Amino acid sequence: MNDGETLQAMITGFRVSAALSVAAEFGISDALAGDGQTLAELAAAVKADEETLGRLLRALVAVGVYAVQDAVYTNTSMGERLRSDVPGSLRPLARMGQDPAFWAAWGHLAHSVRTGENAFEAVHGVDVWTHREQRPEYNAIFNDNMTALSWYVGKSVADSYDFSGLDKVVDVGGGQGILLDAVLNRYEQLQGVVFDLPHVVATGPRSEAVASRWSAVAGSFFEAVPPADGYLIKSILHDWPDDRCVKILRTCAASLNPGGVVLVIELVLDRPGHEVMAAFSDLNMLVMPGGRERTEDEYAALFEAAGLHLNQVIDTGTRVCILEAVTG
Ligand SMILES: C[S@@+](CC[C@H](N)C(=O)[O-])C[C@H]1O[C@@H](n2cnc3c(N)ncnc32)[C@H](O)[C@@H]1O
Repeated sequence: MNDGETLQAMITGFRVSAALSVAAEFGISDALAGDGQTLAELAAAVKADEETLGRLLRALVAVGVYAVQDAVYTNTSMGERLRSDVPGSLRPLARMGQDPAFWAAWGHLAHSVRTGENAFEAVHGVDVWTHREQRPEYNAIFNDNMTALSWYVGKSVADSYDFSGLDKVVDVGGGQGILLDAVLNRYEQLQGVVFDLPHVVATGPRSEAVASRWSAVAGSFFEAVPPADGYLIKSILHDWPDDRCVKILRTCAASLNPGGVVLVIELVLDRPGHEVMAAFSDLNMLVMPGGRERTEDEYAALFEAAGLHLNQVIDTGTRVCILEAVTG
């Protein structure tokens, strides 16, 4: 492709996002798993208009998500990633595009750039968390997406940090507890608590092996968190502006046991190899929750403002780093 064609593909990239979201919503990759299906079989299985489904599939075959041979449609390796039953499934991420509020917020990116304000709240009058609390179907998709995305990095985080000196960790804003599960499975001496809002927090451990060392607490990290030797704070600070991040870190610092650590796990801006993902995640934070991605120096400044000190940054070999902070 020449520059003009490449740019045109970028400008119209939202069409691919929309088509993938519909494929995920209809469960097309689940239906095609195995030997595949003809268009008529697939339309019956996913309850779609046959002719229109054919048009959707033509587009997704063209971008390599599905394949067709002798009138039988199958998943390519990319299409397989949209199945519900694969570890780290990307289906929930694609399904997030089924919430019209998401498109409306991104449609107001210009408002954010003009004013510095959060687009989602400007358009919808509530923040993303309140919006999802009021719409359990989208809340469930968001939680599934966080679980799937965190599945990719959970084990790497558990392998990259030495938790052997800690007795108790709290996964702050831990959602369904996928990261906590990876850490508790790796370190058998650890007690773990998943902490999140009442309508989000996990209702049980993900694996029986950790059940006796696992508990859940509902609450707000702007008010209080359970005491711990270590706080896991993954993909939380990037949701919030600086003053709210300092509040979250202060809440944790206030309950941290002596000698404890605060482990912030985030994409870090300007790291080689992750520039595009981090930069566009930063725009997503601007538009959706009203936060931002940050550089290492910016995280160090947040810790200092909360009475903590950035001790080390650990590369996990994935898109996220562990930023270890200590008191004093
Ligand atoms: C981007 S998700 C990250 C989830 C999880 N840490 C992960 O990485 O998979 C942000 C989480 O913060 C939680 N959250 C938002 N506001 C909160 C609050 N005031 N107190 C506790 N949790 C909150 C959300 O419910 C959500 O689970």
